[in-house]
Amino acid sequence: MSLLYDNLGVQNGHLTFCGYDTAALAQQHGTPLMLLDEQRIRNRCRAYLQAMSQYLPEGSHPMYASKALSIKRIYEIMAEEGMGVDVVSRGELYTAVKAGFPMERACFHGNSKTDEDILFAMEHGIGSFVCDGMDELAAVNTLAAGKGIRQKVLLRLAPGIDPHTHEKISTGRIDCKFGTAIETGQAEEFVRSALTMENIDMAGYHCHIGSQIFEAEPFYDAVRLMLQFVALMGEKYGYYPRELDIGGGMGVPYTKADEAIDYGENIRAIGECDQNVCRELNLQPPAIVMEPGRSIVADAGMTLYHVTAIKEIPGFKNYVAVNGGMADNPRYALYNAEYTVLAADRMEDKTDFLCTVAGCCCESGDLLQEDVCLPKMRRGDLLAVLTTGAYNYSMASNYNRIPRPPIVVIGENGPYTAVRRESLDDLLKCDT
Ligand code: LLP
Repeated sequence: MSLLYDNLGVQNGHLTFCGYDTAALAQQHGTPLMLLDEQRIRNRCRAYLQAMSQYLPEGSHPMYASKALSIKRIYEIMAEEGMGVDVVSRGELYTAVKAGFPMERACFHGNSKTDEDILFAMEHGIGSFVCDGMDELAAVNTLAAGKGIRQKVLLRLAPGIDPHTHEKISTGRIDCKFGTAIETGQAEEFVRSALTMENIDMAGYHCHIGSQIFEAEPFYDAVRLMLQFVALMGEKYGYYPRELDIGGGMGVPYTKADEAIDYGENIRAIGECDQNVCRELNLQPPAIVMEPGRSIVADAGMTLYHVTAIKEIPGFKNYVAVNGGMADNPRYALYNAEYTVLAADRMEDKTDFLCTVAGCCCESGDLLQEDVCLPKMRRGDLLAVLTTGAYNYSMASNYNRIPRPPIVVIGENGPYTAVRRESLDDLLKCDT
């Protein structure tokens, strides 16, 4: 049987993950259980680092977008691999600090930073800010002056690109809440202001067009539009950026219907496009920064659940309920996101039972996936949902006072717990 990823296998009818029997892991750690393949994460970092240094201008580098998965262990791995990181809140920043991440390699994102956020980041020696608009830029300048520093910033621009992804995860369009639009002339004003601010060291421009993008064209469009803007600002104001950050967004296959992405090849093609456009516009190529999130961690993750109930509604549909759901993975409820679901302890059984996998929250929209073919399910069976490394734990909630699952990482020397399971008392720790 061909499975979605090469870290999966089948042994004695059980699904294996990095060579470990998922039924044994579920028994040892309980369910719901999130698993992560550390080597896969490291390999993906290396693929980005290698391709970016080979195909992109000198100084180009990846910064892991830690909103995809923000736990101490991931920042340690990123530090060891030589990655930068992007953080979007004081909470992510603090997690990175506590993990000992070198903060000069971190940048602070987000469209709505308070003065406290900005100061907190400065006090922890953040490398750079990605300023979303004029209000934030002015605040960073004032607060940097108060500290007697010149703060490195990138200006976030909205290039006006529609990348054909889910509307809620497309972020580069003009009418979106992020960035300052090029087309309206506001981006030019943004640059002019930044150039007059004494405590701002404007390193360059940033854009992010969206997430789960499979085609290369939207990235070419972004590179071209941003470089055209570079050329225009260069002509008008003599300002040429050192860095051009083109954000994250490369997709990950969640089902066999998705095509696999060769990240190195994509980076090579983006590099070629960058070179051609720079040549056309007679520009010295700035360093390129990329911010992959999903493509670093998504396919290194898997979640295991136990089946609690089967409900067959004759003439309508079949439900298989599990002991987790939208509280640990809200992505189907939010985006109708596709996942591959496998009967982890019955991998050799015939999959002729068409069903909807439902979660345990008191909410009819709490589904993990619809129209899945599984063996005829029984209470106590084990289900695996693949590709849950990104935007699952980081988007998990305690809705219905459900404790978050643990994260067990399969490392070089075997499995270890990176995040323990929340206890019932953890749920009460802020109640006075
Ligand atoms: N950089 C910026 C500025 C971003 O806003 C994002 C994602 C990334 C990088 C990383 O993008 P990635 O490589 O992961 O596609 N919760 C949604 C995804 C939201 C992404 C938001 N920004 C989901 O579950 O699909």
